[in-house]
Amino acid sequence: METAIERVLLTEEEIKKRIKEIAYEIKKDFPKGDIILIGVLKGSVMFVADLMRALDFNVTMDFMAVSSYGNSSETSGIVRILKDLDFDIEGKDVIIVEDIIDTGTTLKYLYEYLKARNPKTLKICCLLDKPERRKVNIEADYVGFKIPDAFVVGYGLDYAEKFRNLPYVGILKEDIYKK
Ligand code: XMP
Ligand code: MG
Repeated sequence: METAIERVLLTEEEIKKRIKEIAYEIKKDFPKGDIILIGVLKGSVMFVADLMRALDFNVTMDFMAVSSYGNSSETSGIVRILKDLDFDIEGKDVIIVEDIIDTGTTLKYLYEYLKARNPKTLKICCLLDKPERRKVNIEADYVGFKIPDAFVVGYGLDYAEKFRNLPYVGILKEDIYKK
């Protein structure tokens, strides 16, 4: 598994430290807690779990599943809702938690989709941001790390469903996806 990794971009320790800082920013914005974290499956699972544990107030979680990528490493531009929310978010403080913003297509769609349900506030938190790749005008309120334009895996992120269990974020070797 590790032989497919070109190099480690973010270590387990760096991720842990940054999540604590993000939790602190969120606590500043929502001192009373009672927020809903909406994880976007499956890439954000590790991030949501760790972020939630770094928040020492009432917080609930829900998940959505969308598809835009299929099995390849390039976006199709088409967003499909595969699993919707279990809870009503009207009047609630909501944060969408994503693994990565690439072109921005997925988040833009999700943001508008959830906004239409009238939450009190709707914010975006993403672990990774590839600003160079942006095609749609959308920015996250909380960003873990800005990263260069390379295909990354680990800490929830996959290539063809593999590598999600790596504890760090690493750059995938090009020959793995350029066959
Ligand atoms: P868009 O282009 O809609 O894409 O912002 C966001 C989704 O694309 C996936 N993605 C990646 N997945 N390594 C991955 O494992 C990457 O480098 C990468 N870039 C984009 C991801 O699922 C994200 O939610
Ligand atoms: Mg994703």
